[in-house]
Amino acid sequence: MAIELEINGVKRQVTAEADTPLLWVLRDELHMTGTKYGCGVAQCGACTVHLDGKAVRSCQTPISAVGAGKITTVEGLGGAHPLQTAWVKNDVPQCGYCQSGQIMSAAALLADNPKPSDADIDAAMAGNLCRCGAYQRIHTAIKDAAGALAVNAKS
Ligand code: FES
Ligand code: FES
Repeated sequence: MAIELEINGVKRQVTAEADTPLLWVLRDELHMTGTKYGCGVAQCGACTVHLDGKAVRSCQTPISAVGAGKITTVEGLGGAHPLQTAWVKNDVPQCGYCQSGQIMSAAALLADNPKPSDADIDAAMAGNLCRCGAYQRIHTAIKDAAGALAVNAKS
């Protein structure tokens, strides 16, 4: 089927079977490889993108379920998102494989809850696995980004 998807504010035409996971449309059809394949069964979070602002696992999101929804991928954060700045400052990634999914889950959290508690962060990030065990740095970077957002909101 031919389908139009809105990705990072741009309308894209793709041709794929209705049950094709969004992950493969992003990576194979559109060559947007920032979104990673980890497990394929919604267990690791590596493939996380936003659909209408909510974090979803693109490996388990068929394109037929996207409809007119707005998709945001890690490419859509633009490189200067407070989370990306905090990630660099805290030297978060180790191998890096899980990191775009981690950032996308964190971005959905902060968009919904700009001042998350430690427990809020732990709950929001629980589905994003990191084989390298960078959990503490991820947590710290999210706190830093929340602090930067609070400063920006006052200025
Ligand atoms: S690849 Fe989608 S959750 Fe693991
Ligand atoms: S940084 Fe290696 S899996 Fe997370």
